[in-house]
Amino acid sequence: MDPAGMTTDVWGVDADEFPAGGPVDEQVRFLLRYAVLAPSSHNAQPWEFAVDGGAVEVRAAEDRWLRAADPGRRELHVSLGCAVETLRVAARHFGLGCRVETPADGSVVARVEVGPGGNPERDESLFAEIPERYTDHRPFRQSPVPKDVTDELRDEATEFDVDLRIVREARPKQTVAALQATADRQRMDSPAYRRELGRWIGNGALGDSWLFARVGQAVVTHLDIGGREGRKNSALIESAPAVGVLTTATDDRPAQVAVGRAYQRLALAASAANLAVHPMSQILELPEQRESLQSVLETDHLPQHLFRLGYVKGRQDHTPRWPAESVTVDAD
Ligand SMILES: Cc1cc2nc3c(=O)[nH]c(=O)nc-3n(C[C@H](O)[C@H](O)[C@H](O)COP(=O)(O)O)c2cc1C
Repeated sequence: MDPAGMTTDVWGVDADEFPAGGPVDEQVRFLLRYAVLAPSSHNAQPWEFAVDGGAVEVRAAEDRWLRAADPGRRELHVSLGCAVETLRVAARHFGLGCRVETPADGSVVARVEVGPGGNPERDESLFAEIPERYTDHRPFRQSPVPKDVTDELRDEATEFDVDLRIVREARPKQTVAALQATADRQRMDSPAYRRELGRWIGNGALGDSWLFARVGQAVVTHLDIGGREGRKNSALIESAPAVGVLTTATDDRPAQVAVGRAYQRLALAASAANLAVHPMSQILELPEQRESLQSVLETDHLPQHLFRLGYVKGRQDHTPRWPAESVTVDAD
């Protein structure tokens, strides 16, 4: 994929352009304009959509898989789950239903069947947030996140058998912050990890709001910045009023896709509540740190996605995307 093809114009998607009277395959292609606004690790957008009438096969794009950061493809599947759920929320808005299947293996990560029968009322508040949602990397204010708000976020995850754990107390938060510092140092010790991150900074995918993006590709690729990054990120965790962790009973592909679906609903609901979210994946990328996080959470469930939650003033700019047409193919 040519980085020059990425644009922020995609955020201006206009619901009035939906081809209401058109064939279902045209409608599905329109819905994909929303799906590509989903978040993804490094904003790598590792999705390819193969359309056949109302059926969409969601496949992993190998050239956008983060081999160094995510050798087990967990973040890849979470990212694809985010796109699938965005597609479903958009479909409902236009009165369409989505049946989603997530095969345990094979080249199709999710099979989505779009057809009549969606309840346009069901996800209206979430739909409005699709072009508004973004990841906020700035420090959050100290104001607590009320329990009824986190309960609402948890409700968005239950449909998928995904649990949301919230860490608010200072002590466990400090432990998570310390795990983050260690994880950042270990990640940045890997030249392959730094090169890969540098590539996504260099091609503009991360926009210019990340610290990384500001220091630039060369610095990330060549300098020892693991300690500094660890200190910055652990301070971000420690000062956040809440840290959320999505967990699942199993660690297979359908569970990881389910986490992405749950996260995107939660992120849209958070956006509606003016609550900022910021995923941080380094702890989860390292088996030992992931296990330590599981102990902090005192759960048998596996931690799958960690993010800071809190309030900030103003908003950050949107990151760019490849437009839907660039990542859509005709099914074979
Ligand atoms: C599975 C997953 C893992 C992510 N991990 C991180 C992370 O470790 N650090 C971070 O700053 N952002 C992380 N993000 C957020 C992405 O960087 C962000 O979604 C992407 O840059 C697109 O920007 P947007 O969310 O503002 O649209 C993650 C997102 C997903 C879906």
